[in-house]
Amino acid sequence: MQKNPLYCTKKGQAYVGDSLELLAELSDNSIDLVITSPPFALRRQKTYGNVEETEYVNWIKPFGKEVFRVLKESGSFVLDLGGAYRAGMPSRSLYNFRVLLSFCDEIGFHLAEDFYWFNPAKLPSPIEWVNKRKIRAKDSVNTVWWFSKTEFPKADVRKVLAPYSDRMKKLIKDPENFYKPKKRPSGHDISASFGKDNGGSIPSNLLSIPNTESNSTYLRLCKAFGIERHPARFPAELPAFFIKMLTEEGDVVLDIFGGSNTTGFVAESINRNWLTFEDNHEYLVSSIFRFLDGYSEMAIKEILVTLQGNQANYALEKIYCSLEPVMTVKQRREHISQPSLFPS
Ligand SMILES: C[S@@+](CC[C@H](N)C(=O)[O-])C[C@H]1O[C@@H](n2cnc3c(N)ncnc32)[C@H](O)[C@@H]1O
Repeated sequence: MQKNPLYCTKKGQAYVGDSLELLAELSDNSIDLVITSPPFALRRQKTYGNVEETEYVNWIKPFGKEVFRVLKESGSFVLDLGGAYRAGMPSRSLYNFRVLLSFCDEIGFHLAEDFYWFNPAKLPSPIEWVNKRKIRAKDSVNTVWWFSKTEFPKADVRKVLAPYSDRMKKLIKDPENFYKPKKRPSGHDISASFGKDNGGSIPSNLLSIPNTESNSTYLRLCKAFGIERHPARFPAELPAFFIKMLTEEGDVVLDIFGGSNTTGFVAESINRNWLTFEDNHEYLVSSIFRFLDGYSEMAIKEILVTLQGNQANYALEKIYCSLEPVMTVKQRREHISQPSLFPS
């Protein structure tokens, strides 16, 4: 890339800018996975008709075309789109389905699989139809389109096995007694080997993930430094699922609407290279908090001042990054081993 990143780690780089321009700098067939959650809000609210849906598709299509170009043949594009109502009426917008059709029919993507992210913690909305008039159910599912450049993208569901149900655990423990081998009407042959322990069950395309981040380093430091948190973050578990399933260590993951850089943080934690593009400078500045677990207040202040100047090109050498924060603060500091940053 010609432009300098705002900051970089050993595995990734975060760039401020319009992702359409930044994408243009990437070579063809160079990225393994693009995963992103674009702004959902329909750009210009209209009272009737479906103009806003067409506008949304016209807005996002150039990004889709560029993503198609930069993806490797084995690559995937995972696009999280929240549902929406048409302005002023209890009738759903079809924009997410129009994006799906346009990307497949006009750009050439394949729909590898349609996923649904169920957020059980989602508040009821829209207030008018759900809370006040009570004529619609709570909308708590996002469509997550898994596009691929070819029919056979790199993918391995064994990397994202779901925990076994209690019933399955019993079957594994004592297959002979639990199940009589027989052929089901569906054609599935339930033999004793069905009780083999594979470490978990095949996940479904309904991902139940509460969006309830509450004690992350990112939120803690936003609060401590009086910086507003990004208002539309996705939970780390969502990109984690797709990054694990669709890439291997050393692959390159890109988020073109990076926000608070949840994707970069997840990719770094599981040893994938990453790139993040975000056009809001402030969002990207505070996103560095995700990598500053264990840093002293003084060191963080210095980093913030550096990043707030443009073209910071800040290289973050020592980081502690994990999806499972099991270490104590003391252990994390030792892990980072940057004693000069931690005045006793
Ligand atoms: C839904 S948020 C993404 C949040 C992110 N997934 C996270 O967990 O923090 C969408 C982001 O896209 C950014 N954005 C909108 N248009 C953009 C563009 N043309 N280029 C780069 N970023 C853009 C917005 O500033 C916003 O932060």
